[in-house]
Amino acid sequence: MESGRLLVLVLLWYQSSTALLLPQNHTRFSPLLLPQNQTRFSPPVLPVRLDVSEVLRRVERRFLSVTIDASLASEEKFMSLLGSPKIRTLAKALTPAFLRFGGTRQDFMEFTPQRVPRDSASSAEKSCADLLLPPWLEQRLKKEWTQQQLLLMKEDLHRKYRRVKFTEDTVDLLHSFSNCSGLDLIFGLNALLRTPENIWNSSNARSLLQYCESRGYQMDWELGNEPNSYEKKAGVRVDGNQLGEDFSRLREMMSQSKLYQHAGLYGPDVGQPRDHRTDLLQGFLQTGAGAVDACTWHHYYVNGRDTSLEDFLDPDILDTLTLKTQEVLEKVKLASLEKPVWLGETSSAYGGGAAGLSDTFVAGFMWLDKLGLGARLGLDLLMRQVFIGSGSYHLIDQNLDPLPDYWLSVLYKRLVGPEVLNVEFSGLARSKRVRLYLHCADRDRFSRGAVILISLNLGCQALSISSPLLSTGLVEAFVLESGEEGLYSRSVKLNGQLLQMPDDKTLPDLRGTRLPLVERLQLPAFSLSFFVLTEARAPACW
Ligand SMILES: *[C@@H]1O[C@H](CO)[C@@H](O)[C@H](O)[C@H]1NC(C)=O
Ligand SMILES: *[C@@H]1O[C@H](CO)[C@@H](O)[C@H](O)[C@H]1NC(C)=O
Ligand SMILES: *[C@@H]1O[C@H](CO)[C@@H](O)[C@H](O)[C@H]1NC(C)=O
Ligand SMILES: *[C@@H]1O[C@H](CO)[C@@H](O)[C@H](O)[C@H]1NC(C)=O
Repeated sequence: MESGRLLVLVLLWYQSSTALLLPQNHTRFSPLLLPQNQTRFSPPVLPVRLDVSEVLRRVERRFLSVTIDASLASEEKFMSLLGSPKIRTLAKALTPAFLRFGGTRQDFMEFTPQRVPRDSASSAEKSCADLLLPPWLEQRLKKEWTQQQLLLMKEDLHRKYRRVKFTEDTVDLLHSFSNCSGLDLIFGLNALLRTPENIWNSSNARSLLQYCESRGYQMDWELGNEPNSYEKKAGVRVDGNQLGEDFSRLREMMSQSKLYQHAGLYGPDVGQPRDHRTDLLQGFLQTGAGAVDACTWHHYYVNGRDTSLEDFLDPDILDTLTLKTQEVLEKVKLASLEKPVWLGETSSAYGGGAAGLSDTFVAGFMWLDKLGLGARLGLDLLMRQVFIGSGSYHLIDQNLDPLPDYWLSVLYKRLVGPEVLNVEFSGLARSKRVRLYLHCADRDRFSRGAVILISLNLGCQALSISSPLLSTGLVEAFVLESGEEGLYSRSVKLNGQLLQMPDDKTLPDLRGTRLPLVERLQLPAFSLSFFVLTEARAPACW
């Protein structure tokens, strides 16, 4: 019995060292079948070169940001979910960050004020604590939201979108959520309100801006979501040049406002470059580059309805971000040298995510690689679709419990600084399944000169990393591995401990393991790790 099992393990081990062989029915596949006793096999060693002498580039301090999809406002009552004490706790841990409110439905939303101006019953004047959602209502809304999602999916499938009217309540709830959590709100305006001449009709936006200004709401703005697919979604074609003009119009409106004259405006939130697409971005930049503070585009690796576990671990798929990013960066550089480029909306799989993948541990490989590679390639900020709400790519599930990508995001926030450094390795063919990124460690938490190595092991074989820099002193390790259900886990372990909120107001300790003077860093199979070299004394991070 015992030796039979061992034989199976060894066979698995040998098969997997050349290729990642997964059974067809991947619900049966579990990494727990992999050899547990690592001492029998000495993992291959990967020598890496960590260049800590210079900073390659620096990203925005809110680099990891999040979104709420506008579909949460498809019925106004669901916006009240943002008053959940648990969500507030979870949001606070992601600051500093933007909270972008937008998505397909933003272009079907109209502001329809209901109150007489200066209505004193407004929630806007209440304090953060007064606005919290009572538990009974939270329970009811969570249930109803599950139903609502089915309706939304149907709309998406048929690309038929209802017009949604929203009142002051939506704006108040959104603002109080972002303000009380410390997130910086970006509101996506409807660009499909157009005149017969196909020029943006700014009248609805003006009334919204006026309301927000009357409330003193500090916020930034966007206009339109994926305008390149307006024809499919609404039968309207908008060309890039005109869209640029529309943005200039919005910027002009903002500059006439005391509160918004220095506020941010970001756009055009185009979908990722595709082969046979007329180029909306280029046209937009000609007329609109001057109006925006950052140029935004959207990126997803795969189609949520047609993907697999293997895709989520495929280095070639992860590498597709490189070409698309370079293409966008080049265009923006040609049109406006200094404009920052952001991913204004991004996740693993489009079409709402891939259920069972985008919301489980395996999604972390796409997310962490995007953070690492995106920073390295020249993106300044990434907004993760979504914090809560529609689809299965959320950070917080329908019960408002954090998913593995949430924990990964919080760790990234706490540990990783904005300075990108260079890391190189070569050799071993199998090292394709190892992906490494190097940053300065977060200045508030670690001493000067500390660096952080971000490591992904996409393979079923454990590896170790060696570098002369490891001899400089203490390493603090934060190793994330899946919970009980393997790669499909909705839970995650940090250094062997399952991460869970002790209560709705508290996050667990996200403590590292201190490794004094190690020669090698261990990368377990299918793991996501942060190694802080606390005493590296990197000149670049001084
Ligand atoms: C995979 O296996 C499980 C359990 O044996 C079974 O319930 C499920 O229907 C299978 N799925 C596919 C796609 O074969
Ligand atoms: C792991 O393997 C070593 C060497 O064969 C053995 O001494 C040890 O008892 C094993 N540990 C476990 C937990 O099986
Ligand atoms: C713009 O929209 C407003 C409100 O719906 C409408 O009253 C106005 O006539 C529109 N303007 C143009 C030029 O279409
Ligand atoms: C935002 O929150 C801060 C404290 O968290 C508060 O002092 C400020 O008044 C709030 N701003 C608005 C516009 O609500």
